[in-house]
Amino acid sequence: MAEPIVVEDPGDPRLHDYTGLTDVELRRRREPAEGLFIAEGEKVIRRAGEAGYAMRSMLLSAKWVDVMRDVIDRSDAPVYVVDPALAEKVTGYHVHRGALASMQRTPLPTASDVLRTARRVVVMESVNDHTNIGAIFRSAAALGMDAVLLSPDCADPLYRRSVKVSMGAVCSVSYARVEAWPRGLESVREAGFRLLALTPGEEARALDEVAPHRMDRVALMLGAEGTGLSARAMAAADERVRIPMSHGVDSLNVGAAAAVAFYAVATGRPQE
Ligand SMILES: C[S@@+](CC[C@H](N)C(=O)[O-])C[C@H]1O[C@@H](n2cnc3c(N)ncnc32)[C@H](O)[C@@H]1O
Repeated sequence: MAEPIVVEDPGDPRLHDYTGLTDVELRRRREPAEGLFIAEGEKVIRRAGEAGYAMRSMLLSAKWVDVMRDVIDRSDAPVYVVDPALAEKVTGYHVHRGALASMQRTPLPTASDVLRTARRVVVMESVNDHTNIGAIFRSAAALGMDAVLLSPDCADPLYRRSVKVSMGAVCSVSYARVEAWPRGLESVREAGFRLLALTPGEEARALDEVAPHRMDRVALMLGAEGTGLSARAMAAADERVRIPMSHGVDSLNVGAAAAVAFYAVATGRPQE
């Protein structure tokens, strides 16, 4: 257990993990290189800890010290107490939630590691928007998906925005990168999964006809906003499936499509 330390100098090197949090490019490079990620807000910090991530430090405004007392007592990580104006100087934004934690990244498992025990898998190609990644992990956790596979160019699930939007679900749903893309999807099929490419295209079969909830092992492939799944990823799938839409809408946001498809896999709804 560490005694909270009051810090009054925004240039204090002990606050280095928290500097320039609004500089997306800088943080995207720095965080994986330095082996850290930022959890924001009480719930997310607790979830990251419960998922087994070690804490490097916490940055709290004074009123959060009592709220986080049990977390502080269980950890040896230093706790820096700063006033809100100083937190803003260091991070670059007003820290509404009053509590930040710098967490230690762990090595990612391989795709075969995560597939070993999974039955319902999400596969994302080129989803490079942190908000969409976070929303998809949140739905994946809530709707019983077991694991996530990412193409090499998907955004980092542990980037602060993704962690926040997912409400910490990125810490509890295991994920891996498929480095040889899309060739590596062959190993998903070999592990017994049926690969379903989600696309709004007219040529695809409706999700309810395909009945993914009856499949023993199923992998749902999602593409990026704008381009959707690439032709090569489509070719690697066993089948194309669509969520029927009305009012002339041509596609759903990928996060919304994911939630509908996860629910259909879990329950056989919405159309059956
Ligand atoms: C905004 S959409 C991409 C639209 C792109 N023009 C296309 O034709 O795929 C992003 C992703 O969400 C999923 N998606 C969106 N609407 C869908 C629908 N109605 N049925 C199935 N998947 C959908 C797909 O995985 C798609 O790659």
